[in-house]
Amino acid sequence: KILILDFGAQYTQLIARRVRELGVYCEIWAWDHDPAEIAAWGPKGIILSGGPESTTEADCPKAPQEVFDSGLPILGICYGMQTMAAQLGGATEAADQREFGHAEVRIAAQDRLLGGMSDHPGANEPRLDVWMSHGDHVTREPPGFVVTATTDRIPIAAFACEEKRWYGVQFHPEVTHTKQGQALLERFVREICGCDALWTADNIIDDQIARVRDTVGRDEVILGLSGGVDSSVVAALLHKAIGDQLTCVFVDTGLLRWQEGDQVMATFAEHLGVRVIRVNAADRYFKALEGVSDPERKRKIIGNLFVEIFEEESNKRANARWLAQGTIYPDVIESAGSKTGKAHVIKSHHNVGGLPEHMKLGLVEPLRELFKDEVRRLGVALGLPREMVFRHPFPGPGLGVRILGEVKREYAELLAKADAIYIEELRAAGLYDRTSQAFAVFLPVKSVGVVGDARAYEWVIALRAVETIDFMTAHWAHLPYEFLDRVSRRIINELRGVSRVVYDISGKPPATIEWE
Ligand code: XMP
Repeated sequence: KILILDFGAQYTQLIARRVRELGVYCEIWAWDHDPAEIAAWGPKGIILSGGPESTTEADCPKAPQEVFDSGLPILGICYGMQTMAAQLGGATEAADQREFGHAEVRIAAQDRLLGGMSDHPGANEPRLDVWMSHGDHVTREPPGFVVTATTDRIPIAAFACEEKRWYGVQFHPEVTHTKQGQALLERFVREICGCDALWTADNIIDDQIARVRDTVGRDEVILGLSGGVDSSVVAALLHKAIGDQLTCVFVDTGLLRWQEGDQVMATFAEHLGVRVIRVNAADRYFKALEGVSDPERKRKIIGNLFVEIFEEESNKRANARWLAQGTIYPDVIESAGSKTGKAHVIKSHHNVGGLPEHMKLGLVEPLRELFKDEVRRLGVALGLPREMVFRHPFPGPGLGVRILGEVKREYAELLAKADAIYIEELRAAGLYDRTSQAFAVFLPVKSVGVVGDARAYEWVIALRAVETIDFMTAHWAHLPYEFLDRVSRRIINELRGVSRVVYDISGKPPATIEWE
């Protein structure tokens, strides 16, 4: 396994995902993590991430000296390389201009990390297309190091001390724009650190099954199944591990996607044989939401009602000792910042967060170490349907925040159908997997239309589709006009009460992905 010491770069998680894709387990710890724990954890190599600070500032973050004394291979990326330079007797310099984007590096010496690589075979000297994002750069390599790559802008784009197996690159191997990035990381973790590719879906499943059995013994486990990817994978995994000791509670809020309740039951109860208690709670939800139009209040009501219902159901299962949750690694990293670390925050997702303490259940979180793409691979390996595993994210409050203002049953039914038509057409056109999230929104305004010969005032449906990597920023998807035309016609023709369809062309920021 590999340890990634995080200096706060936005790409740190990407480094970890790339290393895991190579079949090697890794974790991200804060740069100031207790060195004794690092030694005890026993990584085979250490990667120092990039970060926003400058090594030219007096109190900048530094790698623990123990890391350099450990005898382990080290790869410094961007700030990680700069701090190696600064700490090991080289020098860095702050630049007045940031370099951001594509760059070409010339290989200046053949080391184990970069030696023999070239993106331009046949050129006089080996060159690599890389991606840069930095202000500072290294101006003098530390004693014992050689410069292994340079660019026109920076004389030291990579360095190495082969004897100690220490390497630094100024560019970012973890982004795909660096063509040899994955090959470089592979050389580091597999060849230089000597890690085997053991981190595979099958191994993870076997390992988790053993751990879950060990943890819960003969006890009963209860899980809130939402139909989303994470809780679905937990359900499939736990069922495989402990069979009938698992009980899932699926709350049909009336605010789910079209026929979602039936699909969840078909997949889990009928197909996989998981014990699922379906609670049809639509009436309760619509009643609780009557007259409420403030989005945050709606979210609260929906979340609280879930907790209430979940508790009612689990109280009926007196033997339940464990609560399973679909917490994934990014949730864990986000809740464990530098120094303050180790905070163990429960995912603030409505269908798991805020469960009352008095329930006194132990937590089972088999996805705690996994990234979303790994969770999906596990889902496939566990036999879940592809459409479920690769589904777009769906917010906890569901259609409750996609019906603007007051939520009514009539609106929810119209919206679910409109959304189903949209998604069906996206899939048919091969566009579903090319958008990150797509959905319909119900606008409670009446716009004029002509129905037959008469004027009618009917509702408006908005369509949204975005492309994004991290859901923090997003572009609206440039769906083809013919496609939008087809969807609009179908919605208006097939749904009574809708006479106008609009397409949302706002980016995030400033708009959010959801409308509320
Ligand atoms: P926004 O609208 O903030 O959405 O740009 C970013 C991502 O978060 C999802 N989202 C939610 N998920 N409960 C959730 O579980 C919520 O209240 C909620 N609001 C937004 C949204 O669907 C998108 O994927």
